[in-house]
Amino acid sequence: MAKHYQMQLMAGWQTCNYNFPVTRYQGSKQKIIDWIWRNIHSLRFETFLDAFSGTACIGFHAKKNQKEVACNDILKFNYQVALAIIENSSVILNDQDIEFVLTEDGSINYPTFIQDTFKDIYYTDDENAFLDMIITNINQLEDKYKKAIAFAALGQACLVKRPFNLFHRKNLYVRFADVPRSFGNKATWDKPFQYYFRKFSKEFNDAVFSNGRHNKALNFDVFDIPDGYDMVYIDTPYVSPQGVGVDYLHFYHFLEGIVDYKNWPDKIDYSYKHRPFKSEKNVWVDKNEIEKAFDRLFKKFQDSILVVSYRSPGIPEKETLQNLLEQYKHEVKLETRKYKYVLSKETEEKNGEILLIAK
Ligand SMILES: C[S@@+](CC[C@H](N)C(=O)[O-])C[C@H]1O[C@@H](n2cnc3c(N)ncnc32)[C@H](O)[C@@H]1O
Repeated sequence: MAKHYQMQLMAGWQTCNYNFPVTRYQGSKQKIIDWIWRNIHSLRFETFLDAFSGTACIGFHAKKNQKEVACNDILKFNYQVALAIIENSSVILNDQDIEFVLTEDGSINYPTFIQDTFKDIYYTDDENAFLDMIITNINQLEDKYKKAIAFAALGQACLVKRPFNLFHRKNLYVRFADVPRSFGNKATWDKPFQYYFRKFSKEFNDAVFSNGRHNKALNFDVFDIPDGYDMVYIDTPYVSPQGVGVDYLHFYHFLEGIVDYKNWPDKIDYSYKHRPFKSEKNVWVDKNEIEKAFDRLFKKFQDSILVVSYRSPGIPEKETLQNLLEQYKHEVKLETRKYKYVLSKETEEKNGEILLIAK
């Protein structure tokens, strides 16, 4: 046992009291963590890879349960979140840092990229100017974990101020239209960025702790992650029975741009009104490639306990996944839980969250 953690135990520290920040993310497993953990916690593992970590909520739970955790996601924004609360064990964004990033510095000639490129698309002119300023200030923070907390907090602020919490459409007008109440919460969208940035900085600060282990944030395509973990948790993007995959880069490109501000101009596909990133090939959202991709992934991590989250119905079918796993592992267990995703139109009965556990 790591010495630091032993000392924590002796001092009676409770690593379990740290709360995961409230996040808005497609396919987040935040609401079903207890169910997932109940199904895997008694297996023997010390090192845990959350291979498609998204919000990092599963990795965070494993960290709270004293595992040595690596959280990986191909998106740079999710990498910043994992740096902030998985890899980081002690650094917080203090009041002085928060005031520093929120305050315009008269000696800086701030860039206007967001104001010029995203006018009338996602945020108002004033909000766009604020974003150009705060990103520039965040990039001046020297500590990588402070920077990561600031980006994580700013990303949540951006999401909360967006109808549907996404960037898939040019729809700033929705915020100002006279729409039925159920369509969204205008008061929420209109609260200033400054308010949300402070609020979410506090939430991320409160999630920083040490479990005495060497936890890591990774930013690889899943096939490039070095292997060697006792357990690998696999939660790929969902592909519906109609063959439509959740393209995370398309939904969250704006957050990717924020954390890679200087390269943002070169990444945009200017032929679309909502200025997304140029699309990139991803086998995990391609109905014709995804089965082969699962096979390749299971083979790569065949020496680990494999835990796969799967939403039913979907592509591939669950029996297909089970058969693939059986090629590499002796024992494959399937657990089912009924669950309704927030944005799903399907009825609760039709939706099942499945966990395949292969040893
Ligand atoms: C279903 S979400 C994971 C949600 C996460 N378990 C949570 O609870 O927040 C799938 C994630 O896979 C990531 N992803 C997509 N393609 C990837 C790839 N080739 N390698 C690594 N991550 C990828 C996406 O960015 C997305 O965050």
